[in-house]
Amino acid sequence: MGTQGRTWPARALALLAAALFWQASTVHAQESASVPPAIARTAGELAALLAEHCPLAPANDIAAFERCREALRGSDALRARLPQIVLWGRQSAEPQASLAASTLTQLSPDLWTQLYAPLFMFNGRYQVEWVAQENHYLVRLETAFRNRLPPGQYPTPFWHDAQKWRTYQHANGLLLWLQPQTGSVHVAQFTSRATTPPLQDVEIIARRFGGQWLWTDDGGRTQPAVAAFDGMYRPENPFLPKLERQYRDLALHLRDAQCTACHAPDNSQHMQRPVLLTTPAHAAGEIDRLIRAVREDRMPVDAHRRPVALSADAKAWLLESATIFGDTVRAARDWESPATTPSAAADAAASE
Ligand code: HEC
Repeated sequence: MGTQGRTWPARALALLAAALFWQASTVHAQESASVPPAIARTAGELAALLAEHCPLAPANDIAAFERCREALRGSDALRARLPQIVLWGRQSAEPQASLAASTLTQLSPDLWTQLYAPLFMFNGRYQVEWVAQENHYLVRLETAFRNRLPPGQYPTPFWHDAQKWRTYQHANGLLLWLQPQTGSVHVAQFTSRATTPPLQDVEIIARRFGGQWLWTDDGGRTQPAVAAFDGMYRPENPFLPKLERQYRDLALHLRDAQCTACHAPDNSQHMQRPVLLTTPAHAAGEIDRLIRAVREDRMPVDAHRRPVALSADAKAWLLESATIFGDTVRAARDWESPATTPSAAADAAASE
């Protein structure tokens, strides 16, 4: 607080100078002068890479979406800026709401880069500022949302909540909150209340929620495809059949232990930091924490958040299926990483 008080006049002058500079120039970035060079550079790099990989395209352009996903998946620069857990959600409808009071879903960085971030498109324009109340730098990126992709291209059917789907469709800002010490993205949010207009006109699409987080389409394919293994990994990945089988086994145990009743997108327990376990991708992203929570008897809990003891057998089966699944997820991921030669990994898979 003290520091804040002392630096304020200097910051006010700097802001004024920045505002005058802004008026006189047509640069893409608007930075208040209180932003240190390292943070300004990070903000610029993030904005540039998102615009390069995920430029504006028609909101139903599947090929553009795929290119963006593929590029973000392979982006070490983006990955290096993400924490162990990305907190992701809508900016609160309450304009003054703090991040602490906002509902933010916990996502593994892989999940966020592959399933959530690519749904947005960018033009490279952004603003960066210091937000004293949050003790974070805020990068506001201009954006538009891909609202007319097939339903299986969204990691969860966002339209189960009309308000949430509306905000996604009208999104005109992506907010990246950078930690001052590390410059890494601590929280990511989307908003339909940015001051800049959406990057293109939005043709609103109404969707009906079928009542299930995971479903099978007419062609017999598991949906949402992006959150199923054939959507996450290359078709040649030798671990795909095993993953399918092992996931099905784990999912039964998660259901029996009530895990998926609470850890679902409708967030029936009103968690402030929900964890999702309802799709293969989400379960894979949380597998290590899932195992730890069960092993340490912290999960499942009851409606009052008191731990509920599983029978010894149920706990053992759940842990066994989770461990087997987790090992295969790791192997499948390693196979996908460019450092691995596909033939070596295929040999390894065959020998198990
Ligand atoms: C009655 C609702 C409910 C059930 C059932 C439930 N959870 Fe949770 N879970 C929660 C809540 C609430 C939290 C947040 C805990 C907190 O931080 O207060 C949580 C947090 C978690 C976390 C993240 C925090 C951590 O400890 O790492 C994991 C992982 C998790 N649960 C896994 C499971 C698994 C696996 C099951 C089933 C065996 C399960 N949960 C069953 C409500 C539930």
